[in-house]
Amino acid sequence: MDTRPIGVFDSGLGGLTAVRELARIMPEEDLIYFGDTGRVPYGGRSKDILVKYARQDVAFLRTFNPKAIVIACGTVSTTALDVLQAENDIPIFGVVKPAARASAHVTRNGRVGLIGTKASIRSGAYEQALGALRPGVEVTARACPLLVPLVENGRSRPGDIVAETVVAEYLAPVKSAGADTLILGCTHYPLLREVIGAYMGPGVALVDVGEQCARWVKKQLEWAGLRNGRPGAGRHHYYVSDSTEDFSALASVFLEEDVAAGVEQIDITAY
Ligand code: DGL
Repeated sequence: MDTRPIGVFDSGLGGLTAVRELARIMPEEDLIYFGDTGRVPYGGRSKDILVKYARQDVAFLRTFNPKAIVIACGTVSTTALDVLQAENDIPIFGVVKPAARASAHVTRNGRVGLIGTKASIRSGAYEQALGALRPGVEVTARACPLLVPLVENGRSRPGDIVAETVVAEYLAPVKSAGADTLILGCTHYPLLREVIGAYMGPGVALVDVGEQCARWVKKQLEWAGLRNGRPGAGRHHYYVSDSTEDFSALASVFLEEDVAAGVEQIDITAY
């Protein structure tokens, strides 16, 4: 039994897709979330900058003495996971492997679509992980740099003409490649799930990388004897690097609970 919290981070709101699932399947665990809203989006940045930001994000979360850290960000998972794992003596989990396992399992025709940020697609990490699990799988990958700003600005609902137009343009090649599975390779994208699902159609399975990662983390903590056996609901605290208002409003809608009282602003450059 280990009552220390689990640290989770992303560039902004996206990692809440992992938080929601972590809270659902491990309600007794304390969660500390950091969203780097002052520096979002991460997806167009160079590897050097991403590693620098990720190190600061981890250093901040480590001030809470976490038992594990979840990189609830496709961009950091594809670019800096190995660096962070090598530098830290606690488990650091990324989203790529769990998402690849789920996709290899779900696809029937071996044609998988992948959408992510520029940095994630450039890394080739999802293709590599998927190819190792299911040799011969055909991946159609698209970088979608406009999707994160849409989500961060609350423009992700069905009927939003801008979101629908942008999603259709990015996904057209994936649809025409005949993919039966689509990896939402950035943790922000499940907030556009209904728009993406409506465009791809009901025959295409959408793989939410944050959700898959959360399930993987639960198993890993169980195997390592690190679960919190304490009865009662875990506490959730949220930190951001820009003002708290926008984050609180959008996070409360997404998590379906009022989180405003639990959100604080910090200076991430101090870590
Ligand atoms: N949600 C993150 C990801 O999964 C970061 C997106 C961004 O900041 O560009 O890639």
